[in-house]
This record gives sequence, structure tokens and C-alpha cells, in this order.
Amino acid sequence: MHQRTCLAIVLAAGEGTRMRSSRPKVLHAIAGRTLLAHVLAAVKGAGTTATAVVVGPHGDAVAAEAERIFPAAEIVVQAERRGTAHAVLAARAALAKGADDVLVIFGDTPLIGAETLKRLRGALAGGASVAVLGFRPENPTGYGRLITIGHRLVAIREDKDASEAERKIALCNGGLMALSGEVALDILDRIEDHNAKHEFYLTDAVAIADGMALEAVALETGEDEVSGINTKAQLAEAEDAMQWRLRDAAMDAGVTMVAPETVYLCADTTFGRDVTIEPNVVFGPGVTIEDDAVIHAFSHLEGAHVGKGASVGPFARLRPGSRLGAKSRIGNFVEVKAAEIGEGAKANHLSYIGDGSVGAGANIGAGTIFCNYDGREKHRTDVGKGAFIGSNSALVAPVKVGDDAYVGSGSVITDDVPAGALALGRGRQVVIPDWGKRAGNKVVKKAAPKPTAKKAAKKKPKTRR
Ligand code: UD1
Ligand code: MG
Repeated sequence: MHQRTCLAIVLAAGEGTRMRSSRPKVLHAIAGRTLLAHVLAAVKGAGTTATAVVVGPHGDAVAAEAERIFPAAEIVVQAERRGTAHAVLAARAALAKGADDVLVIFGDTPLIGAETLKRLRGALAGGASVAVLGFRPENPTGYGRLITIGHRLVAIREDKDASEAERKIALCNGGLMALSGEVALDILDRIEDHNAKHEFYLTDAVAIADGMALEAVALETGEDEVSGINTKAQLAEAEDAMQWRLRDAAMDAGVTMVAPETVYLCADTTFGRDVTIEPNVVFGPGVTIEDDAVIHAFSHLEGAHVGKGASVGPFARLRPGSRLGAKSRIGNFVEVKAAEIGEGAKANHLSYIGDGSVGAGANIGAGTIFCNYDGREKHRTDVGKGAFIGSNSALVAPVKVGDDAYVGSGSVITDDVPAGALALGRGRQVVIPDWGKRAGNKVVKKAAPKPTAKKAAKKKPKTRR
């Protein structure tokens, strides 16, 4: 069977002035990914074969993000903002190349799912020339209304152009549209700007198709999927919706979450089987957790790999480049960055392990610091297999501690320690006997001051009932 080709046109020209930000709207992020990246992920999931991203005149940063995600994406500039159909036609060259399906998607609707885009494509495959995504918002003000006669979708009326009767229609336009590639350019070129906003409305494609005796259909979806983001408050709402999707997906895949509402995930967080996540854990981008690992409460992970059966936290921080081996343990108030922790190795308390490695089975004592920075450059610290680093030691990089070597507590290690050796890098303890008895060293005990009447009254022991 012929695989239908699909061109996705993503409209990302909006500046988003209501975001009150110097960043373009579609470059704001939810679940660790830009709005544009979420939309492009859905586009990819819908099996599109070509993608054009329409940016505004100052759209360099948006273009760069689009190209980062989809190097093959075609970037087109809509120099003047003259309506959604005008924006789509900025991608005329891409349209002219021909595709079976054309999908038009707004860059600020990050909750749109690939399945819904596939449904729109399915309507085209079923013979429709235009397929529109409708929804029933609580408050329809501002949205285009879908005008139907029986099952036929005959027009979309923009709020500003609608009659009183049309404004009463509950089914609204979500904004996304699928057009048959065969007729898309023909339809788009017929759209005019005779309306309240003097814009070229993409929505007019429906009435034009109807006039050409082509079939237009409306599909329905939930409001959450099509709600666009214009303000920081809407950004936060979308974040919440996305977080619940990710949490539900993780739990469906077998992750145990004690209090899912307190766990923050990234769109790319991946879990193995039988992972447990305690409350108040935050996942930044690029985290993979293998089977049977436990992430204890109040931990923060980013760009990290946690091996099978490893234990992290409570109160641990894994920064980018942390790679924890199977059954390793990173305990409370331990920070790891760009470091490999070997199988079964432990750093249970109050340590910084940055730029280096810890061999399998090694023990990093409480308060150990990898001193990786000399004020100009970062250097590595490598601790061998089975090594034992005594508490409160500073390992001054670049430095190597060999396999099965020991470092005495409180050491400052500046030279390599050979395998199996003990290194002590600390002042020797001095014990001076009978110090207290020596003349002048007597500890004179001051008499305790007499309590004043007021204080004495306060000091009365409370009797408990
Ligand atoms: C649009 C729909 C409306 C629908 C609503 C859903 C049209 C004419 N109207 O209205 O039926 O109910 O979305 O949210 O399509 N854009 C450009 N260039 C332009 C104009 C817009 O790139 O010249 C982009 C915007 O950045 C935005 C999208 O197109 O991402 C939609 O534009 P917007 O002005 O928000 O349209 P609405 O009035 O919300
Ligand atoms: Mg809008």
C-alpha cells in the first residue's frame, strides 16, 4: 500500500507579548522541553515526512531550536503578520513540492498529541479534503465556531465575525487543520481578507472547500489538547497537565510513586521496571533510571544515568554526566557531576564528586570533596576499585587513588596514591599530657549567676497532666 506523505507546517511566528519575556513564546518550556519541541515531537509521532516551521521576522532563535530538533526542517519567514492562512502560505515552496497530507499546527499548543494528528490524517485518507479539530471550551469567547449542516462542516466563523446565533455554537475550532495536499494550495490561494481583522484566515478554507464541493469534516478532542499558551499562568497550567501525563505514563509503565503530585518529570525521563520514586523528586532533562533503582525524597537529577538497583538520596543532587553503576549508593547531601560511580560503590553522606570516577566497590567517606577546580580549569580525580576514602578528605585534582588504596580521614591528597597503599595527608595529632594541671592552664569555673526573681519564676518546672 502507498504510504501517504505528510507535510507539517508549524506556525511559530507569534512573539507572545503577553508572556512579558524577552524570549519568544514558543521557546518557553514545559517538562524540560520548549513548546516548539513538544509540537515537533507530536509532528514526528504523526509520521510526517516533511516539516516547515514558519517564524517571524526576528525568528532566529526559534529557527535555531527548530533546526536543533529537526535538522531537516525547512525554516520560512513570514515577514508581515497578515493572518493564519498568510502564514501557511509562507511555506508555499514546501507546499508546491506536493504531499498527500498537509497538517497545520500552532507552535504554542504543546499538549497536542501525535494520535490526534494521526486522526486528522486518517480523515484525509478517508476522503475528506479538509479536517478540522473541534473542541467544546467552557468559555467559547474568542474562538472560531464550527458551522455544520448535518454531518457536513460548511464553515468556520471567527468570533469577531460571528452573528449572535453563531456565537451560541458550543463546538469551537481548536486551530489545527489537515488539508489534502492535492487541493491545499488551490484552496489557500482563494482565501481573502474580507473580515473584521483584515487577515487571511486559514479557517476560510472550510467554506471554500465546501464551495468547491469538497468534503470538510470536524473531529473532536478535549480542551487540554488544543489550548494555546499566551501567558505565564497558561504556561503553568500546561506544565501541570503535561506533568500528569508523564506521571501517569510512568506509573502505567510500572514506576512506583509514593506521591506523584510532588514528582516533576521531563518529557525525556526514562524508567526501567520496578523503579521507586519517593516524594519531592525533580527530574531535569536527560535522565535514565534502570530497573529496581530507588530515588529517595528531595533529590534533584539532571543529565544522569542511574544503574540497576542503585539508590539515590534522600537530598542527593545528580548533575549532568553522572553515571551511577548497578547497586551503587549516593546518599544524603551528596552532589555528583560528570563522574562515573562504579558498581556497588558508595558515597553515603555530604560529599562532592565532580569530574572523575569511583571504582567498583569503593567507599567515599562522609564529607569527601573532589577539588576539581583550580580557579581556571577543571581536573579529574580517579578513585580505584575497592578504595576507601576516609571521612572529610579533600582529593585535589588532578589526582589518582589506586585500587584498594586507603586515604586516612581528614587528608588533603595532592599526590597520586598507589594501589593498596595508605595515604595520610594531615597534621599529626599532638598529645600533651597533664595540660590542665600546668600553672596558668587551670580552668577556673565561674560561679553561676543567681537567677533574678522574674527568671526564677519562669524557671519553675511545668507540671504535666
Ligand atoms: C485561531 C483560529 C480560531 C481558533 C483559534 C484556536 C484562525 C483565523 N482562527 O484564532 O478559529 O478558534 O485559533 O486557538 O485561524 N500566526 C502566524 N501568523 C499570522 C497570524 C497567526 O504565525 O499572521 C500564528 C500565531 O502565532 C498562532 C497561530 O497562528 O500560533 C494562531 O493565531 P492567533 O492570532 O492566535 O489566532 P486566534 O485568533 O487565536
Ligand atoms: Mg490564539
